[in-house]
This record gives sequence, C-alpha cells and structure tokens, in this order.
Amino acid sequence: MQPHLKRALTLLAIAIIGFIAVRAIIVPDSFGQYGWYRGDSVIENRNLPVEHAGSASCGEEDCHKTISSIWSDSGHKTVNCETCHGPSEEHVNNIRIMPPPANDSRDYCGLCHFKRAARPSGFPQIDPETHGENLKCAYCHNPHKPWFV
Ligand code: HEC
Ligand code: HEC
Ligand code: HEC
Repeated sequence: MQPHLKRALTLLAIAIIGFIAVRAIIVPDSFGQYGWYRGDSVIENRNLPVEHAGSASCGEEDCHKTISSIWSDSGHKTVNCETCHGPSEEHVNNIRIMPPPANDSRDYCGLCHFKRAARPSGFPQIDPETHGENLKCAYCHNPHKPWFV
C-alpha cells in the first residue's frame, strides 16, 4: 500500500475508535431505553413539583367565585389566572400561603397588547407611547374583564 494511503487509513481508524470511545463515555446510560432520549428523564419530569393549579380551582367552592364568573364571561377568558398571578398550587392547597402579587406593570400587559407588526390585526393592540397617559393599565381596565372599566 502506498504510504499516503496508509496514513489516511490510520487517521480514519483513530477517528472511528476515538468516536466510539468518547461516545461510550458521554452518552448517558438510559439513553435509548424508550426512544431517542434519556429514559431517566421520564422519571425526573414526573417527580418535578406541580406548580400550577389551573383556573378552574380558583373558582371552586367558596374561593374566588365572583372574580371567576366575571373573568369567564370576559375577553380574558382564554388568559389563565396564573398567567398574571403566577403559579399558585401552594396557595390552593393552603390558603395561608399567598401567591406572589399579580404583575400589574404596563410592560406585562404589553407583552400581549403593545402594537407589533407581526400580530394579527384583529388582536386588540395599543401604542404604549400614546395610550393610557403612562398610567398603570389596571387604573382604567379591570384585568379580569378588560372592558369593565
Ligand atoms: C390579565 C391578567 C390577570 C388575569 C388573567 C387574572 N388576574 Fe387577578 N389580578 C390581576 C391584577 C393586575 C390584579 C391587581 C388589580 C388592581 O391593581 O386593581 C389582580 C387582582 C386579583 C385579586 C385581588 C384583588 C381583588 O380584586 O380582590 C384576586 C383575588 C384575583 N386577582 C384573582 C384572580 C382569579 C381567580 C383569576 C382567574 C379567574 C384572575 N385573577 C385572573 C391580573 C389578572
Ligand atoms: C397572555 C396574554 C395577555 C395578557 C398578559 C393580557 N392580555 Fe388582554 N387580552 C388577551 C387576549 C387573548 C384577549 C382577547 C383578544 C380577542 O378577543 O381577540 C385580550 C383582550 C383584552 C382587551 C380587549 C377586551 C375585549 O373585550 O375585547 C383589553 C382592553 C385587554 N385585553 C387589556 C389587558 C390589560 C389591561 C392587561 C394587563 C392587566 C392585559 N390585557 C393582559 C391577552 C392578554
Ligand atoms: C387612562 C385610562 C386608560 C389606561 C391607563 C389604559 N387604557 Fe386601554 N383603553 C382605554 C380606553 C378609554 C379604551 C377604549 C378607547 C380606545 O380604544 O382608545 C382603551 C382601549 C384599549 C384596548 C383596545 C384597543 C382596540 O383597538 O381594541 C386595549 C388592548 C387596551 N386599551 C390595553 C391597554 C393596556 C395594555 C394598557 C396599559 C399599558 C392600557 N390599555 C391603559 C383607557 C385606558
């Protein structure tokens, strides 16, 4: 065999063996157990704490019935309570643990409502420079029923 071919084949062999060796070290043991992912991740995800209670639980029994019925009849009925109020599972299980205060800043409402060229034109949008005199949005809009000022 010609020397330059020998060198090329040796390099190729080293590369293949190197790849197999490194792969054996860095690929986690449970990879491929069920499919093209780490089998252990299924258990890890199942063990994560539940943080969201869901909007339905806010309106249950003697809890926030009034707010829930106002909200479920409003333009915000597709925006879950915990979108603005944060994860509240702990509060649902123990009412002494208060959820963090709702984010009532202009920028937070603006995540969905500031004018963006990419948003569908039918979606209610405002220009933050001219709308609402720089006051907090909840000063004029009820976040639970935005048109009920
Ligand atoms: C679009 C955001 C948003 C959504 C959705 C939302 N809230 Fe609120 N919520 C707020 C803000 C902001 C305040 C503070 C109001 C203020 O400053 O006047 C508030 C205040 C409250 C308060 C305390 C003040 C009060 O009126 O008694 C409760 C309780 C509450 N929300 C419950 C709920 C429940 C239950 C839901 C779902 C059915 C919900 N919220 C959905 C933004 C929201
Ligand atoms: C997670 C996104 C989201 C956030 C945050 C949000 N909204 Fe909305 N808002 C919506 C959606 C969705 C609608 C319904 C749009 C539709 O009817 O097409 C809506 C509708 C509205 C409307 C029009 C109401 C109507 O009946 O047509 C107003 C006003 C409004 N929101 C104000 C606010 C204010 C004030 C805040 C902050 C307290 C806020 N929104 C936060 C998603 C959001
Ligand atoms: C000073 C009172 C006031 C404040 C503060 C205010 N708004 Fe409004 N908003 C109104 C009034 C009045 C209307 C209806 C007339 C109009 O479209 O300008 C309205 C309309 C809207 C609409 C509907 C626009 C449409 O074309 O469908 C949205 C969305 C909205 N506001 C979001 C917000 C957000 C988000 C904030 C905070 C960044 C905010 N508003 C602050 C008074 C206010």
